[in-house]
Amino acid sequence: MAWQARLMIQNGKLIPWEDGRIHPHALAVTYAATVFEGIRAYRHPKGMFSVFRLDEHLERLAQGVKIMRMDDPPSTAQLKADVLRLIPANEPDDDVYIRLQVLIDGPGTQATRGPTGWTIVAIPRERNPKRSTGLAVGVSSWTRLMDNASPPRVKATANYHAGRLATLQARADGYDAPILLNTRGKVSEAAAACLFIIRKGTLITPGLTDDILESVTRDTVITMAREAGYRVEEDPIDRTELYVADEIFLCGTGQELTPVTSVDRLPVGDGKPGRITMALQARYEALVRGTTPDHAEWRTPV
Ligand SMILES: Cc1ncc(COP(=O)(O)O)c(C=O)c1O
Repeated sequence: MAWQARLMIQNGKLIPWEDGRIHPHALAVTYAATVFEGIRAYRHPKGMFSVFRLDEHLERLAQGVKIMRMDDPPSTAQLKADVLRLIPANEPDDDVYIRLQVLIDGPGTQATRGPTGWTIVAIPRERNPKRSTGLAVGVSSWTRLMDNASPPRVKATANYHAGRLATLQARADGYDAPILLNTRGKVSEAAAACLFIIRKGTLITPGLTDDILESVTRDTVITMAREAGYRVEEDPIDRTELYVADEIFLCGTGQELTPVTSVDRLPVGDGKPGRITMALQARYEALVRGTTPDHAEWRTPV
């Protein structure tokens, strides 16, 4: 990775990377009062950058801020302008990963609602090295969070405590990633990505009330798969459906679209990345990078 982040944004100000500051006694740290987005900007072969589905990411962030009852949060217009000036300020020469956090930037009690601050970094991020060969996943013995306890719909840093435990267990057990079942025993998602299975040509993914993040990539996949003529269903998925699926893939801004080739050491299909999966991966790549004119509304030029 050639470029390095030199500048970041904190509370609307462009500052050197080393100057970012959060007090250790701020609620962002003491009670994980932070909601965030992970967003990617892609470099077109001709050199220009665009941010993929920036408006949808900011809309989800605003929902999380509302549910977390933060006082006087930054406006969506402010955050959008900040993202769009931070990227060129770092002079990237390759794809960019943006992490945007809105947080309680002061001390207090569990009932404290402000002051609300924000930080944005734009950094290089490697793509999943298994995106062409496929992931070995294991169904976790940890249970997915539920809406009435720590709502997965909110992209809160607090939720990633559970995701980390599942990921660390999966790694200890020799898997690349965990798949979590929800409190009803149905498949929810991976620790940082949504999941699709394919059976007899139909794509199936858990619904928005199956304890998943309302993923932007999941929505992209549903749209592009339907446009390619596939049937897509949003339905609960049983654990054993993972074992009999023809194809499985994970999707998310960070993971992009990555095939799963085994679950609990049972091969998925013939144990190789699936044909439909890889066709969708190629289509996703064209859409995010802008090498197709389709869905220009999803790409915000930098
Ligand atoms: C728990 C979880 N699920 C799903 C996703 C995918 O969401 P999105 O497609 O909006 O990046 C993420 C983030 O990438 C995540 O952290």
